Formats: sequence, C-alpha cells, structure tokens
Amino acid sequence: MNVTDKVILVTGGGGGIGAGIAEAFAEKGARVAITDINADYAQAEAARIGKGTIALQHDVTSPESWAEVKAAVEAQFGPVDVVCNNAGISLPFKPMEQISLEEFDRCMAINVRGVFLGCNLFMAEMKARGSGHIVNTSSVNGQLPHGTFAVYSASKFAVAGLSESIRQELAPFGVGVSILYPGLTRSRMSENQMADLPEEIKRAIDGKMMEAIWLGRAVVRAVEENRLHIITHPDHLPALKARMEALYVNFGEPAQPDFVGQRISD
Ligand SMILES: NC(=O)c1ccc[n+]([C@@H]2O[C@H](COP(=O)([O-])OP(=O)(O)OC[C@H]3O[C@@H](n4cnc5c(N)ncnc54)[C@H](O)[C@@H]3O)[C@@H](O)[C@H]2O)c1
Repeated sequence: MNVTDKVILVTGGGGGIGAGIAEAFAEKGARVAITDINADYAQAEAARIGKGTIALQHDVTSPESWAEVKAAVEAQFGPVDVVCNNAGISLPFKPMEQISLEEFDRCMAINVRGVFLGCNLFMAEMKARGSGHIVNTSSVNGQLPHGTFAVYSASKFAVAGLSESIRQELAPFGVGVSILYPGLTRSRMSENQMADLPEEIKRAIDGKMMEAIWLGRAVVRAVEENRLHIITHPDHLPALKARMEALYVNFGEPAQPDFVGQRISD
C-alpha cells in the first residue's frame, strides 16, 4: 500500500511508540488521527507532529468510545485505511501470585479486548472495500515469556495469536495484518517501569532504549510491503531460537502409538 494521503488511526498515540508510528506515517504524507485515553497527551503529540494530525480522546476498552472515534475520523478524513492498535499498559515486575485480579482484568481489557474491538470495528468494511491494513502492537514478550511479567506476556501472546489468525482470514480480501514486536523503547511506560531501579542500572538501561520514531518507520515499511512480522530489536533472536528449539525437540513420537494425525491444512 502506498500510504501517501491514506487515513491512519493510531491508538495510544499520546506518546512513546504510538507517537512514533503517527509521526512516521505523517512523514510519508498520510492523514493521521492519534487517539489516547489521555486527551492532553494526544493533543500534545498531534501538535508536535503537525502536518494536519488530529487528536481524539479514546478508551480502547469501550465499544461506544470506538464508535465515536470512528465517526469523528471519518467526518474529518473519510474511511480509515490503516488501524494501528497500539494502546497498551504493562504491569509491575512481580511474582504472579502478587498480581491482583483487578490488575489482570485491566491488562487484558486494554491489551487484548482493546485490540479485538479495534480489529472488529474495521474488518468488515476493509473486506468489502478490498483494501486496508491492521497493525497490532505485541511485544518481544509476545514471543518470549519473561518471569515476573506473566500477565503482560500472556496479553502480548494473545495479540500475536489473534493477529496472525486474522491475517489468514483477511488475506483473500486484499487486507493486510502486521504485528509489531517492540523490545525496549523509550516511552512513559518503559521509563515508569524503571522508576524504582537504582540510578546506575537506570542509566545502563536508558542507553539501550530504541527511539520510537524508528519503530514507526519500520511499521510504515511493513504496511507498504504488507509484511506480517515487524521485528525492530533483532538482538532477541538467540533467545527466540532457544525457545523454539526447546519446543521442536519435543515433537517426537505421538502419545498414541498408532496415531496418524492430520496436517493443519488437511
Ligand atoms: N516501550 C517499550 O519498551 C515496549 C516494549 C514492548 C511493547 N510495548 C508496547 O507498545 C505499546 C505502546 O507502549 P509505549 O511503550 O509507547 O507506552 P506509553 O505508555 O508511552 O503509550 C501507551 C499509551 O496508551 C494510552 N492508553 C492507556 N490505556 C488506554 C486506553 N484504555 N485507551 C486508549 N489509550 C490508552 C496511554 O495513555 C499511553 O499514552 C503498548 O502496547 C506496549 O505494551 C512497549
């Protein structure tokens, strides 16, 4: 897809990775709407990016809020060509038994329900038009689980599974789906996550954060080329290979001796 003049909706665009995605599309001459639960954050980023970028208040967990945002973007720009479901929250690093049900529900509501709602609202009309693209923000932790980050990891695995599934559904209709797997990137979320660490460790981690605009440019390229996986932090490859290898080596004999089985395509 040539993104010039296309209409782009980016959730959680009031800072960090969402703002980087919005800025990268604006650089290419797209018409961009930033949404965020925090209207001030969204306004500030829209003003910084300029180029006609608009800002809308939005709660991605609410179908009513999604309907309002869709109507407002369409009134301003026309139908949405690219939806970037990027809004998300993390949880503090701690053993899972210390995670409350409220924390679990909130993380799943924003990170998974929000993505589900954003996809569902636009899929049917993209299929009917025979064009469109959905970009869902997962995480390196959506392929690499991390101890003391279980619920966040589970939410990001869910985003990856949902996205890869609907890519299969939408491909015959000319609609693309991409998954962004960020590693450590400068944002309010990553800075808050480090808040309680000793200064020396904070400084060391700070030097390893990627700047969000580069993730945004990678997203634009993936939409232009209709690529599924958007890998911005290849330093995680050895860990991913080790994880997959540990899975593959367990594909030995079937549990039932005479079992023939079926290929997924049968
Ligand atoms: N920063 C990283 O290192 C990193 C790494 C991997 C994945 N991610 C993912 O990237 C995405 C963006 O995170 P970020 O790091 O830029 O953090 P961020 O906190 O800067 O941005 C997330 C934005 O989402 C907004 N938001 C929160 N709840 C919302 C809701 N209910 N409705 C609408 N907006 C809401 C926040 O106000 C915030 O502006 C998230 O999905 C996050 O899980 C980030």
